[in-house]
Amino acid sequence: MVPLKRRKVANSGTLNAGTHNSAATQPNKFPQVILFLLERKMGASRRAFLSQLGRRKGFQVEELFSKNVTHVICESNTAQEARMWLEAQGAGQAGRHLLDVSWYTESMRDGHPVEILDRHKLQQTPGGTVHLLMNDSEVTPFSVPGYACQRRCTLENHNAVLTDALSLLAENAELSDEDGRGVAFRRAAAVLKALPSAVTNMSQLTGLPCLGGHSLRVIKVSGWVSFAVLQVLTGIFGVGSKTADRWIREGIHNLQQLRDSGQTLNRAQQAGLEHYDDIKQPVSLAEAEAIRGIVGRAVASVSPEAQIVLTGGFRRGKLTGHDVDFLITHPEEGSEVGLMPKLVSWLESRVSCHLQNVLLICDVIFLLMFALFCRFSLCCFIDKQTRRWRAVRVDLVVSPISQFAFALLGWTGSKLFERELRRWAGHEKGMSLSSHALYDNKQGRYIRASSEEEIFAHLGLEFIPPNERNA
Ligand code: UTP
Ligand code: MN
Repeated sequence: MVPLKRRKVANSGTLNAGTHNSAATQPNKFPQVILFLLERKMGASRRAFLSQLGRRKGFQVEELFSKNVTHVICESNTAQEARMWLEAQGAGQAGRHLLDVSWYTESMRDGHPVEILDRHKLQQTPGGTVHLLMNDSEVTPFSVPGYACQRRCTLENHNAVLTDALSLLAENAELSDEDGRGVAFRRAAAVLKALPSAVTNMSQLTGLPCLGGHSLRVIKVSGWVSFAVLQVLTGIFGVGSKTADRWIREGIHNLQQLRDSGQTLNRAQQAGLEHYDDIKQPVSLAEAEAIRGIVGRAVASVSPEAQIVLTGGFRRGKLTGHDVDFLITHPEEGSEVGLMPKLVSWLESRVSCHLQNVLLICDVIFLLMFALFCRFSLCCFIDKQTRRWRAVRVDLVVSPISQFAFALLGWTGSKLFERELRRWAGHEKGMSLSSHALYDNKQGRYIRASSEEEIFAHLGLEFIPPNERNA
């Protein structure tokens, strides 16, 4: 692709030849349409780029706002924000169209102002569409719905290098308790994941939210050293960012320093430190299935009718994970009460805190439930293939059957998909969604559902199967 600057020169060369692409020779082909692009959220460089593009196609695009403007083009602004801006200019909305940039890019593509449809009008909440311009002579809009829970996003994506970098940035921000920034990076990554092809030129990023110079600068200058230390310490099972932060301030920067420090560790943290390398190693699907077999047998022996489902990343089709997530329920409401403690004591009666004393549960795999607090547990088993002990994180959740569909949806993830589902429910439907229930805020009542499909239907969303929830 020719860089922007060089192409400008080339265009001025074709000016005298009077081709259709030349910038200055196109008269205003649509005198009834006077456009103004709002810089707010669009950014100065994208605005300049889009304005130039429009003028070349024969549109009148004003540099400054005036009362003559008929169409105001916005990106990621709500109708209310645009109206407030207009009022600040001493102008009202009267007689003016407030339009999303999708109307503009489609008009560029078709070479004339397209019919204004509902989806082109500014919404009450931001989102809408994200458009990517391939180069400045040809508009190839990638249209992506504003909410990740409206998009299908498989595990493969065309921009893995970028999305991996952004995921790291998100992780960094989350570890520093900067959830807002973390979400911004995750949203940007999710938008890139949904694009139908690879981004091939940096200039293309100009149009994408959260992917401007800021993100790129952050990659360069952010404190990778402290990030790395925080990542090591919070990588210990049972250690959160607060504890890690305290240790760092006390001069503990690695595992050896932690061992030497004489810090009091709880049972989970002791196990976490002991099995650090194992826990860092991703869990394979085969291991997840083996653990499913063991936990399944344990569940069956304490409550024969109880059911167990693999959730989390493995249900979304991932081949590896950082843990194995299970959801357990009982077909009879109420019979799930007390299931977890029974399960724990069943397992504990068969294991000990030391690997030497493990009990043979079947001839393939040993299981050791190690540190069990809340839902989290650490289980150790020996794999027949590797003939090696290995510790794995297991996340067990028990749900009453009446909440099962909500729990299944909530624990399948991805995290961003869940967050977006809740954002959609709240902003677009006036409902509150959790892993327990769906509540209609307007009607003041809970909405029942016995399957994930029903929940999507209540939310007015097309059903998205687990393997397409990898936002
Ligand atoms: P995980 O953190 O296990 O994510 O939580 P994952 O997608 O399975 O990723 P890997 O493969 O293990 O690395 C699974 C889902 O459970 C929900 C989230 O929606 C998440 O997507 N969850 C997790 C919660 O609701 N609350 C929690 O505290 C943790
Ligand atoms: Mn998981």
